[in-house]
Amino acid sequence: MTTHLRRYDDRVVLVVGGGRGIGAAVVETFARQGATVVVSDAETLGSDVNQYRSMRVGGYAAARELARNLRDKGLKVTAADVDAGDEASVRTLLTGIDEDHGRLDVVVNAFGVTHVSKVEDMTLAQFESVVLGNLSGVFLVSKHAIPLLRRSGGGAMVNFSSISGRMGFAKEAHYCAAKFGVVGFTASLAKELSASGIRVNAVCPGIVRTNMWDYLLSEFVRPGETPEECWERMRALIPQGEFQSPQDIADAVLYLASAPRVTGQAISIDGGMAQP
Ligand SMILES: NC(=O)c1ccc[n+]([C@@H]2O[C@H](COP(=O)([O-])OP(=O)(O)OC[C@H]3O[C@@H](n4cnc5c(N)ncnc54)[C@H](O)[C@@H]3O)[C@@H](O)[C@H]2O)c1
Repeated sequence: MTTHLRRYDDRVVLVVGGGRGIGAAVVETFARQGATVVVSDAETLGSDVNQYRSMRVGGYAAARELARNLRDKGLKVTAADVDAGDEASVRTLLTGIDEDHGRLDVVVNAFGVTHVSKVEDMTLAQFESVVLGNLSGVFLVSKHAIPLLRRSGGGAMVNFSSISGRMGFAKEAHYCAAKFGVVGFTASLAKELSASGIRVNAVCPGIVRTNMWDYLLSEFVRPGETPEECWERMRALIPQGEFQSPQDIADAVLYLASAPRVTGQAISIDGGMAQP
């Protein structure tokens, strides 16, 4: 049997937003395939509307600790500080990878932030903050990674959309707009880059228990309900009745990064939740 899946020895993989949550599973998955992985995350975000995001500070510290733990296991992982929503920071990250490694083969945009608000209560700053933190950042990382990917002979990008890039949710209009935007951006960039051998795909996770959900549960919990009861109420939304794990999503990212004939796709890993 032939397989298109291959190991990643001699390949350099960048995971942006990989210090915690799903991205951390992506980092370990590629490292176990032999890749040299640069795990980048934000210690702080430059925008003054950070308070409206689900983001906790300390992403770079988490990335450094993850890299140290994985190096202790014999894997090739280094950490870098980046705010994907800040162009100067993104440019510095990509320049550093070029200087340190001289190539780049896979870029995973695993960062993201969310915020819960009705549209009528939402400020423009809140709307723009969520779009910056989920969509504009994907644009910035892509823009500055493309030349290095091209020089390395092709490669792949995998962007994080969401079930919120497949269906709408009340009080999540800005997040859904950004995540639908990631799907459109991915489909368009895939066409733009197809002749250069660079493939661009997206994953749409359903519900994965991470920091992001600590914030969402605090917003979605009903009067008289505990956060854990609220979490179980979320389970009822999933046809399979099971939440996804970070590894479920990381496996899909590895597939998309490795499948030579797949580009422009957005794959749902959501237990059937987004099906009409
Ligand atoms: N958890 C879920 O249920 C779920 C569902 C659908 C989609 N997603 C998406 O999956 C991705 C990962 O989410 P998660 O659940 O692991 O969240 P998380 O909050 O646990 O991890 C996100 C990581 O991204 C980092 N980050 C945020 N903004 C950044 C920026 N501007 N630059 C660099 N790093 C930044 C954070 O510091 C954090 O370490 C996000 O795009 C999210 O929208 C998550």
